[in-house]
Amino acid sequence: MKNLKLLGLVALLSAALPAAAAPAPQPAATTLTIHADRPGAVINKDVYGQFSEHLGSGIYGGIYVGKDSPIPNTDGFRNDVIAALKDLHVPVVRWPGGCFADEYHWRDGIGPQAQRPVRVNHNWGGVPETNAFGTHEYFEFLDLIGADAYVSLNVGSGSVQEAMDWIEYMTSDQDTTLARLRKANGRDKPWKLAMLGVGNETWGCGGSMTAAYYTDLFKQYATFVRTKPEARPQVIASGDHDTTTDFTESLMKNARGGLDAIDFHYYTILGPQWENKDTATGFGEAGWINMLANTLKMDGFIRQHIAIMDKYEALHRQGPGPHKKVGLYIDEWGSWYQPEPGSNPGFLVQQNTIRDAVLAAANFNIFHKYADRVRMTAIAQTVNVLQAMILTDGPKMLKTPTYWVYDMYQPFQEATSLPLDLKTGTYKYGKWSVPQVSASAARASDGSIVVGLANLDPHRPAQVSAVIAGAHEGQVKGRLLTGDTMDAHNTFENPDAVHPVAFDSARLSGNSLSVTLPPKSVVVLSLR
Ligand code: AHR
Repeated sequence: MKNLKLLGLVALLSAALPAAAAPAPQPAATTLTIHADRPGAVINKDVYGQFSEHLGSGIYGGIYVGKDSPIPNTDGFRNDVIAALKDLHVPVVRWPGGCFADEYHWRDGIGPQAQRPVRVNHNWGGVPETNAFGTHEYFEFLDLIGADAYVSLNVGSGSVQEAMDWIEYMTSDQDTTLARLRKANGRDKPWKLAMLGVGNETWGCGGSMTAAYYTDLFKQYATFVRTKPEARPQVIASGDHDTTTDFTESLMKNARGGLDAIDFHYYTILGPQWENKDTATGFGEAGWINMLANTLKMDGFIRQHIAIMDKYEALHRQGPGPHKKVGLYIDEWGSWYQPEPGSNPGFLVQQNTIRDAVLAAANFNIFHKYADRVRMTAIAQTVNVLQAMILTDGPKMLKTPTYWVYDMYQPFQEATSLPLDLKTGTYKYGKWSVPQVSASAARASDGSIVVGLANLDPHRPAQVSAVIAGAHEGQVKGRLLTGDTMDAHNTFENPDAVHPVAFDSARLSGNSLSVTLPPKSVVVLSLR
């Protein structure tokens, strides 16, 4: 009885006293060796490529508004969006799809805009496609932002002849009927066609084909890529997705000549079923870690495809031919969530948070590891669609956290990748666990070493102690991107809530680097 009274008193007192503050989470230790003495492959700038499809307001409204629009524009292209993309130094833009590519007939998109046919965009919302943005507009857009062309041919519902004609229209410098037509439409000189995709997702929306059937089709199309040798684009086959490998297997085995790269698509969803998607904002910690755990599967997928490529290249090699000749191009990747409430579900509009920024950085760090094969990637998609760099609403525009990660990682373009030994703890929640820190490093052309780091833990800072083998003495500076909450994001009312800030707490002494990464953050350091 006495004890009960005492307990009651204690309970009363503790209710009256302010609760003791929870201790701040302690940094967890990560060690890193950066092998500056063992340079690897150059990270092709095209790893930082983009994908823009005729989908929702990905192009119309987002990039192209037409000359008569009240939105400030140059020749119909939004000035704000062009300036933002120019700042990113986008190396290449894949167009016109996606699923849209296999229903696209290029002749619909040339000539006076008012006379272009209006079609239905069957894949994306069933809305009218005016064809106002066609081949000339695409190349003008590339000129404005300084990017290269990656055109996807229509294999699903087109023909080899239609593809040949389009290639001639774009690239011929001779006095042919198609080159004259291009000139009559306002473009004298041929354009530079850097990359040519032969179909898209031919296992699905691009024609529901088997790997064997598509391999034959690929060879047929590749045969008729008739350009002068100096104008020949890289020819890219439509490959696998997620866990499948039969397209890579079949193409590597049977389609050697004329094959420059095979593409691979992997979207990060909550899963495990495709239908099960998270919301882009307002998610809990399970959604945070589940998405990051799933995105890290990219590493294993890439390794699996590279093993197949290595196997066939070794089998077929006669003499000292080029190693790693065929590239693995991840030309669709990124997060895919439920569409924003109130938006057309066929338009794939989603917000973009610090979770997406960490997800993007983790993927870059994976791509850098395989720089000798992964020489091109394209995130889906540039503006207003899926994991976009930019969102627009009428005249308003915002840069997403993903935009900022692309910006921070710019020094990796054309830098030489450096191998790492990374020992990091695990961040766990529920049934998931992921490495706390993701990292990559490279030597930039100016001699500096650039280090990309992401802390996947939304609670604990990460204490990173790095050694740079091959020594380094000098200065370190950096940029940090983080947010107050797991779904921190920018809105049209507050477009600057998430943006990078200078990061000056990294310390470099001799060849030892020490840095504390805040929770849920991306840090890029430059050591010079
Ligand atoms: O990016 C959206 C769509 O996703 C693309 O059109 C298609 O290739 C993929 O399934």
